[in-house]
Amino acid sequence: MEITTVNQRSFSLFNEKHLLAIRIWHWTTFLVISASLITVLLASTMFSTKSNLSMITEQIQRKGGVVTPVQARAVAHEYSDKLWMVHKYIGYGLCFLLLCRILIETFIAKKEKIFSKIKNALMLRNRAPAYSDRNYYLWAKYGYLFFYLTLLIMAVTGLGLAYEEVPILKSLHKTLIQIHSIAQYLIYFYILTHLIGVIRADTTNSKGIVSGMIHGDYL
Ligand code: HEM
Ligand code: HEM
Repeated sequence: MEITTVNQRSFSLFNEKHLLAIRIWHWTTFLVISASLITVLLASTMFSTKSNLSMITEQIQRKGGVVTPVQARAVAHEYSDKLWMVHKYIGYGLCFLLLCRILIETFIAKKEKIFSKIKNALMLRNRAPAYSDRNYYLWAKYGYLFFYLTLLIMAVTGLGLAYEEVPILKSLHKTLIQIHSIAQYLIYFYILTHLIGVIRADTTNSKGIVSGMIHGDYL
């Protein structure tokens, strides 16, 4: 029984060794994106201008002070502004990681490149032992390309927002905010489907795929 399982695994297309550079990149990106999402979550909930406005007015009035709505709004805005500032710096980190991923893809051996892997899987004949998970494998690889493209959109629009004092970017501010806000949902969609995908793979016919992303070896 055990022998059958091992054979099934070794025929899986997912049975590939991930390079150390990709593994380090993957887990660093996971941490940095998580940090970025936390700033978005906090800035749009607990620390949003709207949610602190009445609290600030109330606290000042309780201590006998007088505050106008404009003054209270300015103070409340500072909280969310601080978080967006952190978001911006984490964003620079994400831009750097995206650049690293492009450099890794440029310098690795041809057989390791995503497009070569897609091409090889597409050429697989339907009698080949690994053919059974070809479609999952292709969806996973297309998913990675989708993610890299979405991250590029987030990075370009994010940088456009970060350098808003540049006149041309100032005039594009509204468009950049719109694209940045909409594309965030593509990132959430990717993360959700990616997690469902790897958990499904690890609990069915590609056991060990997650630990393979940690220590490199699949089995
Ligand atoms: C995981 C990827 C990212 C997500 C989910 C995300 C999400 C968001 C959201 C929801 C906003 C608020 C938009 C609004 O006001 O309607 C925002 C603003 C912003 N983001 Fe991102 N972002 C990401 C990556 C980046 C990157 C790579 C940068 C690059 C520096 C960046 C820089 C900014 C800047 C400068 C703002 C404007 C902050 C402000 O209002 O002062 N973001 N982001
Ligand atoms: C913010 C969250 C995450 C993002 C953005 C992300 C992104 C990615 C990307 C882009 C790849 C492809 C790397 C390449 O170019 O080869 C990948 C692969 C992978 N990720 Fe994630 N990941 C995330 C979280 C996770 C988590 C939490 C796990 C484990 C539970 C995980 C497990 C894996 C595995 C096993 C692979 C390799 C799958 C294969 O062999 O095709 N990821 N991830």
